[in-house]
Amino acid sequence: MDVLITADAICDRIDRMAGEIGAAYHDGRPLTVVGILTGCLVFMADLIRRIDLPVRVAFITASSYRGEATSPGKLLIRDELLPDIRGRHVLLLDDILDTGKTLTRVVAHLLDRGAETVKAGVLLRKVGRQEVPFEPDFVGFTIPDRFVVGYGLDFNDEYRHLPYIGVLDGPPA
Ligand code: XMP
Repeated sequence: MDVLITADAICDRIDRMAGEIGAAYHDGRPLTVVGILTGCLVFMADLIRRIDLPVRVAFITASSYRGEATSPGKLLIRDELLPDIRGRHVLLLDDILDTGKTLTRVVAHLLDRGAETVKAGVLLRKVGRQEVPFEPDFVGFTIPDRFVVGYGLDFNDEYRHLPYIGVLDGPPA
């Protein structure tokens, strides 16, 4: 496993991202942070502990990768774990922006559910992969077009627990 981003570098960047997020919200109202399961897990846990705002936490499921398949399939959005977000500021968190389809769809879903504003934050953004125009408000790192794991990201539900971002040996095509 090649390490692409070390645990220390992630830690530093998340500190700064939390500052950027705090500076972007001024009205003192609580922020509802919605994580896209399951990849958001580690990123979200670290980020919310550094955001200096009143924060509510919620989750949504949007899955397009299935089992050992690494090419995206149909996107399924499930929001049973989402509280009432009508009139709320929502910060949507995802592990990685790849084609942009997931975040585009989930932002539309949250606005449809009545969120007043939706901003998006991603830990990683892959270059050269985006298929739909989507500009995240907060980006941790821009990375090359490699399949990455660790810090919440998986291959076949493994490697999520790694404290760094790695590139698998002989990555799946
Ligand atoms: P889109 O294409 O909708 O995809 O922006 C976002 C989702 O795709 C998954 N994804 C990855 N997962 N390593 C992973 O473990 C990767 O390199 C990778 N690239 C995309 C991920 O679930 C993300 O939320």
